[in-house]
Amino acid sequence: MRKTININNDWFYKPSFEQTDIKSFNKSDYENARLPHTNKMLPVNYFKTTDYAFVSCYKKILSVAKEYHDQYVYLHFEGVMTACEVFLNGEKVGENKGGYTDFNIHLPKNLLKEENELTVMVDSTEREEIPPFGNSIDYLTFGGIYREVQLNIVPHVHMNKAWLTPKKQLEDVKELGVLVEILNAKGAKDEVTIEVSNKDLKINESQSFTLNGSELQSLEFNISSIKNAKLWDLDNPNLYEFDVILKDLDTKQVKIGFRKAEFTAKGFFLNDQHVKIVGLNRHQSYPHVGYAMPARVQKKDADILKEFGCNLARTSHYPQSRHFLDRCDEIGLLVFEEIPGWQHIGDANWKDLACDHVSNMINRDYNHPSIILWGVRVNESKDDHDFYVKTNEIAHNLDKSRQTGGVRYHNHSEFLEDVFTINDFTHQGHNRGLKGQRESTGLEYDVPYMVTEYIGAGYPVKKFDNEDLQIERARRELIVLNDGMSVDNVAGLISWCAFDYQTHYNFGAGDQVCYHGLFDMYRLPKWSAFVYKSQQEKEIVLEPMTVWAMGERCGPLSEIDVLTNCDYVEFHKDGKLFGKYYSNREQHTTPDDKFVSKHYPNTTDYKHLPHPPVRITEVSKKEEWGFDWHDCEFVGYKDNKEVIRRKRPANAYMHDFSVKADDDQLIAGDFDATRVIIRVKDQFENKLSYFNGSAMVSVDGVGKLIGDKYLSLIGGEIAFWVENTNEKGDIKIKVTLLNNTEVTKELTIKSV
Ligand code: GAL
Repeated sequence: MRKTININNDWFYKPSFEQTDIKSFNKSDYENARLPHTNKMLPVNYFKTTDYAFVSCYKKILSVAKEYHDQYVYLHFEGVMTACEVFLNGEKVGENKGGYTDFNIHLPKNLLKEENELTVMVDSTEREEIPPFGNSIDYLTFGGIYREVQLNIVPHVHMNKAWLTPKKQLEDVKELGVLVEILNAKGAKDEVTIEVSNKDLKINESQSFTLNGSELQSLEFNISSIKNAKLWDLDNPNLYEFDVILKDLDTKQVKIGFRKAEFTAKGFFLNDQHVKIVGLNRHQSYPHVGYAMPARVQKKDADILKEFGCNLARTSHYPQSRHFLDRCDEIGLLVFEEIPGWQHIGDANWKDLACDHVSNMINRDYNHPSIILWGVRVNESKDDHDFYVKTNEIAHNLDKSRQTGGVRYHNHSEFLEDVFTINDFTHQGHNRGLKGQRESTGLEYDVPYMVTEYIGAGYPVKKFDNEDLQIERARRELIVLNDGMSVDNVAGLISWCAFDYQTHYNFGAGDQVCYHGLFDMYRLPKWSAFVYKSQQEKEIVLEPMTVWAMGERCGPLSEIDVLTNCDYVEFHKDGKLFGKYYSNREQHTTPDDKFVSKHYPNTTDYKHLPHPPVRITEVSKKEEWGFDWHDCEFVGYKDNKEVIRRKRPANAYMHDFSVKADDDQLIAGDFDATRVIIRVKDQFENKLSYFNGSAMVSVDGVGKLIGDKYLSLIGGEIAFWVENTNEKGDIKIKVTLLNNTEVTKELTIKSV
């Protein structure tokens, strides 16, 4: 049967590579490493984007007991950026091109020993023959063996893949298509039996087949009469884990969800229910380590998007970590996954690799119920008929259950996919939110259609930017969202983008960062993120877009838009009720012209949103400049009951700071990490939005700090990640805040 062993610990790493490294190993030239691993720790910004673009060498002593040498032994690499060659005991055993998809390397018997020396030459340069490279791209790809690796020991006849396809999903009695691809390394012509079982659903079905001797053979059958299977949807993401067994030979666990997903010209339907897609584009990069973050951290991103009211993530612009996708399955977050690329299409070989990436992506991710669309175009590339006919064909041949999309940004692009997916940057602040669908497609009829990016570079905002800029970005998000929600022929809207990301100097703010995110790189939200969070129903949100200061805005503080899902908000000034304000558009009056800030159109513009912001008007008159400033308070009501209160001081000062970890436990043994947030607060628990003081971090015990120990807070907060070592015990974190005096706070995380 299958033996799968994680081999992420005890690697050796050297940031250079010579041909002689293949056959020699002087441990003192190497540092210890574990996976996921970055080939280079980077500053958060202002660095050379070629700093990680070099060839490096990874080594590992790999034990494979003699009794296994007669079996089929292979390594499964989940992601190595960008290309690699793999050597076993000095002999080449395989290679891979492309950093975003997984691959297997067979370790042949004639080279295997009980103790083996594995060498991986990792080329993290931007090789123009490999997608996404060949021209400049707006993101960094980083380097290293940045995802996990497993050693697999299986019989010569084993399962290369096991796909389960829910059918008749919406009927009481459902069906399941079973497709097992057999890898038959020695041309056997035996009889094999496939068993599929799930205890909860009381399923235990099997079927026998005769192998035809070919290396790869697909075996298919159908399981009918699946009773009592609950549907997978956004609120109840019911998952079922099946054992797929190739009798006496191999076994795999496959998690699936029963759901029907369909884009039509009238929008997107999940289990025949109309769902307006509201999502964000996610880049998978983090401060310092580039892409090399472990499972828990990858999963957190999905949780953040869900918490902030999104129902979809687009994996822009490449297949992302399996952990991220697993979490999307678990929490009911839809996914639009796409192949690596950015605007550029290369030569015939490049296209062949891109086609391989289509099948690699689908082969890896077929079973995820969260994935509802395959992106089979290079993001924003020009039309290329033959190429895209082919990528669509590959996707459709492999996966008959899902539709394809392909993101373009020019009008009237040839529609070869099932869903016309387009980046629409029409909105520039003073015009409509989106183009009409037919204007985009050039067709005279509606088709399944989704807007996959908007705003982005049109209005980047840093978390510590002036209040006016932050408000304006939020306003633009509201306008586009509202516009998209007003029509059924836009299935969904995916804003650019979730998190600020590091990029090449041709893009970004000159510090190698694109501040297009609704969150910063530490996943800390800007106001614009609350545009989305305030549309959901699960958590009460009341986010007044003001730092509550007389002299912060360019002009008087005449209106305050409060991002909220409350029915109404009471505003108190100096302890007195100032007014009661509704999000119900009809009750809004246009503010007195004299005080209309350039930022605000009438709030009635947002009538298609579930929760338009509540606007507090005539907050101050110009004459108040120089007058005494008072505390204020926002009180949110739902169903006529007070549900939330936010108080703002006239004289904000640093009252306290908090040090909070996302998790209080890590799992010892493998690389695990969690984020710790430092936040400086005023006397009413508000973040001090312009506090840029510094903090000193130390991590002792069975943990290590990822990144710098001296941190500058950015707009009242900052985060860092802490990783475990391999032992169990306490991870002791100490944060000293330097602000005139020093104050230290301590926190313990357990590694169990
Ligand atoms: C798009 C592109 C994204 C990002 C964005 C910035 O054209 O697809 O990757 O660069 O622009 O607005």
